Amino acid sequence: MAYDMIIAETHGPTGIIRLNRPAALNALCDQLMTELGQALRAFDADDAIFSIIITGSEKAFAAGADIKEMRDRSYPHVYMHDFIGANWEVVPTIRKPVIAAVAGFALGGGCELAMMCDFILAADNAKFGQPEINLGIIPGAGGTQRLARAVGKAKAMELCLTARMMDAAEAERAGLVARVVPLAELMTEALKVGEKLATLSQPVTAMAKEAVNRAFETTLAEGVKFERRLFHGMFSLADQKEGMSAFVEKRRAQFRHR
Ligand code: CAA
Repeated sequence: MAYDMIIAETHGPTGIIRLNRPAALNALCDQLMTELGQALRAFDADDAIFSIIITGSEKAFAAGADIKEMRDRSYPHVYMHDFIGANWEVVPTIRKPVIAAVAGFALGGGCELAMMCDFILAADNAKFGQPEINLGIIPGAGGTQRLARAVGKAKAMELCLTARMMDAAEAERAGLVARVVPLAELMTEALKVGEKLATLSQPVTAMAKEAVNRAFETTLAEGVKFERRLFHGMFSLADQKEGMSAFVEKRRAQFRHR
């Protein structure tokens, strides 16, 4: 499929989606978000793809929703067109792992998009923030909720109320990002994750993702019960027999995704 505002390509078993509106620091306009959703769904449906990386440029992952596009919108328009809901919320529906490889600014909707991914790998120049308050609005793509869950109330409240940005080191200390790597190594490191994921059982990977995500939606007891059901179910998979046999036989597992 041809896209104008993103570049979608593959690197072996990994789908790469690069946000590509450099003149606007990858501001997330409707067209870009629609294209992102289409590319994500296409990779999710492609059996040859095991995981997906979303990235931007060295200067900006994304500087937020497109302020110029949304400035003059009315309440009935955003409500009736389900602004944000209609085309932003594809990422959490993707069953394969989605990694955000973030360099530069990840602000407002950019930070929210990164937080919708399964985890964030950050370059050492990354900056995260929810500066919407400066525009007379609050975050609208999950920022108040996902940031609070990721870094706790104190930092989430400070960032949302004051628009202060966090650098990569602070974001790692706070638990927002999985790892910080030198800018020049960001894609190499993200692709290494993609290569590792491609050696694993696809259904088990999807179940691991589902189980971790459950932790954010339920009580501990219910979450553990959910995990246990999935865990028991795995004993019906050929991949469980293969994975454990490979360990016992001191060889590399060859998963067949069933
Ligand atoms: N929307 C539209 N255009 C944007 C943009 C955005 N979010 N962010 C940057 N741009 C545009 C600028 O208008 C500028 O365009 P022109 O050259 O045509 O003037 C171009 O990108 C480069 O930006 P700057 O000149 O501002 O670059 P800088 O290096 O001086 O500053 C920045 C970088 C600090 C990221 C600054 O651009 C900035 O503050 N951007 C806005 C950040 C923001 O407020 N994000 C939240 C948006 S609201 C939102 O996301 C709602 C939600 O929750 C869904």
